[in-house]
Amino acid sequence: MRQPKDLSRERIFPTVRGEFWKEVLVYGEVSSTNEIASSLYSAGRIETGTVIIADGQEKGRGRMGRRWHSPHGLNLYMSALIRPGMRPADATLLTILPALSCAMAIRKTTGLDACIKWPNDLTISGRKTGGILTEMKSGPEKIEIAIIGIGININMKREEFPIEIREIATSLSAETGREYSRNDIAVAVLVEIESSFDLLKREGKAKLLREWKALSSTLGKDVSIACGKEVVFGRAEDLDENGMLVIRLASGGTRRISAGDVELLPSQAATGQIGGGL
Ligand code: BTN
Repeated sequence: MRQPKDLSRERIFPTVRGEFWKEVLVYGEVSSTNEIASSLYSAGRIETGTVIIADGQEKGRGRMGRRWHSPHGLNLYMSALIRPGMRPADATLLTILPALSCAMAIRKTTGLDACIKWPNDLTISGRKTGGILTEMKSGPEKIEIAIIGIGININMKREEFPIEIREIATSLSAETGREYSRNDIAVAVLVEIESSFDLLKREGKAKLLREWKALSSTLGKDVSIACGKEVVFGRAEDLDENGMLVIRLASGGTRRISAGDVELLPSQAATGQIGGGL
């Protein structure tokens, strides 16, 4: 297997190996790391606890059937195969938890104020720097298997973003002018995911959700949320115990949203403050 020179299994796996992470496989260019994780698992070639990382993706997948811009040599494209043992009702936690872990990892490795825009966007100064795409197979009682796909823009320069996302996207490097090691960011993310699952196991979801809320750039803001064909307007008031966003409607009532595309309404979109209104 050809390994990209600044991304290496030997630099990542020894630091994270243990009960939780069982293997790290690093590839050159792939279609999509989520797709590779899924097909290797279906073929019985990898076990849960395996992480797939690629130098680039030809068909990087984003939420809602979108493409994830994945040029080689610059960013982190990573998919982790886990057996979460959770109830299907807790499925949203499988996006909430890695988003929190990635924001923590970015903060610790770069000092940047990474925030989370519900449910899965990692943002810095109001611009998107990463996202989570969790795909899972669930039975009636339990989520059997989940692939947590993580994309973080690391060393991409502002002018390297496609023109249509240049104003709304960013990278760690575009924010600071520094270059970051993809190995270090991968390790930091995997360490944080493991410790978030540990926290969930020891203390239950309330603590995890509190930590998520503290880094949220959505709560306390007026938002519009596209949920399928419907658009819901209101104030993002809270995150409920299942990770759903609680919206206070103009009518005074509330509505819980399990999935959708959030937009901060214009007067607030640029502030990028965290935990507003909490
Ligand atoms: C989003 O739309 O915000 C989610 C983007 C998730 C992208 C990552 S990159 C690694 C993994 N493989 C994919 O094809 N997608 C995810």
